[in-house]
Amino acid sequence: MIPDRETALSLLNAAYEKNPGLWRDHSIVTSQVAYRIASAIPDMDPDRCQMAGLLHDIGRIRGISGVRHTIDGYDYLMEQGDSDLARYCITHAFPGKRMIPHTRWDFLPGQLDFVCGYLNGIEYDLTDKILQIADFLSTAHGPMVLEVRLMESALRNSVNRKFLDFWRECLQLKTEIDQALGMSVYDLFDDLLIDWPNQG
Ligand SMILES: [Fe+2]
Repeated sequence: MIPDRETALSLLNAAYEKNPGLWRDHSIVTSQVAYRIASAIPDMDPDRCQMAGLLHDIGRIRGISGVRHTIDGYDYLMEQGDSDLARYCITHAFPGKRMIPHTRWDFLPGQLDFVCGYLNGIEYDLTDKILQIADFLSTAHGPMVLEVRLMESALRNSVNRKFLDFWRECLQLKTEIDQALGMSVYDLFDDLLIDWPNQG
């Protein structure tokens, strides 16, 4: 069973108290974007996508981290008894299930093996992909054109050569979502950001 919105928000706010940052507003935008996309695709569950969006980065409760927030979030939600949504804490960060080491690749010993084993044991469904694209589109200030968002994120975090492989996966993902929608995902949003963000 998935938590209701009030419960999910209280978990998010408790995590924000421990590790304040833009990630809380990003999570709220992600939940709204995921809900909007799921509502436009037949047979999807918008409420489930919304709650998964709220909690996909909940691993940040364990402090400032890079890719480790995925497994931290999975562990945290499993401890909370939210095994239904724990999946998205991991899957949202790995489009195409590809392990593409980047500059914030901070898994602790054993965690990478766990994540690889976990992903090998599941098939991505459309909900996983909706959460992925919602995460990639969502800034703390609203949804943004994917290419601008990827470049903004890359410059904020610094990049290595592997980032191009990650970008290809993200663009492929957008193509799949566009096909599921029967139109560009951008057409769902009249508040889509196209300009470089002012994070100041
Ligand atoms: Fe996120």
